[in-house]
Amino acid sequence: MSVVSEYEQIAPRALKPTLLELDGISRAAVEAHYKLYEGYVAKRNEILGRLAGADADSANQVYSDVRALKVDLSFAIGGIKNHELYFEHLGGHGGDPSGPVADLLVRDFGSVEAWRVDLKATGMAARGWAWTAYDWDEGRLFNYIGDAQNTFPVWNATPLVALDVYEHAYFLDYQTDRASYIDVFLANLDWDVVNDWVGRYGIPTR
Ligand SMILES: [Fe+2]
Repeated sequence: MSVVSEYEQIAPRALKPTLLELDGISRAAVEAHYKLYEGYVAKRNEILGRLAGADADSANQVYSDVRALKVDLSFAIGGIKNHELYFEHLGGHGGDPSGPVADLLVRDFGSVEAWRVDLKATGMAARGWAWTAYDWDEGRLFNYIGDAQNTFPVWNATPLVALDVYEHAYFLDYQTDRASYIDVFLANLDWDVVNDWVGRYGIPTR
């Protein structure tokens, strides 16, 4: 019996044209993300194929191989999800949000500015990602930290903002000045997209 018996190949989503015309995040930087994203999609497909060919209950099963494949799968799938969020919610004009996401930020952080300060600190402290996520068990938003594509997601939480702070996100445009990149990331957020997610997932705003 194989470890994964059936799986579907997936293809990378196309980049929105507006992503190549961001203000302060160059086309080259977006293309660097996209190239990595394509790699994560290919890796995900490849790993699921290898797991489908692996024999889960054979006496010859090498569990260290399964371990490596499963860890790599979480990295690839994390890289896909994180980048799809990143691409989808950029291309706007940032600033202060309105609508349900503004209500959530004020309720759970005290003010939009307090959320921004906390997210920025999280992004400066992280090695890979900072996410604003609605935690369904806590019933509120948190800014969670990520060091890699597969660390440290929190169960039963829905990410609404995904800030990539891997070096490839800022080095081309800002060299070591990650703080300036984070400001520019915030200035390009499309709050309409984030409000759509709040509605689509039925996140309660009171
Ligand atoms: Fe990236």
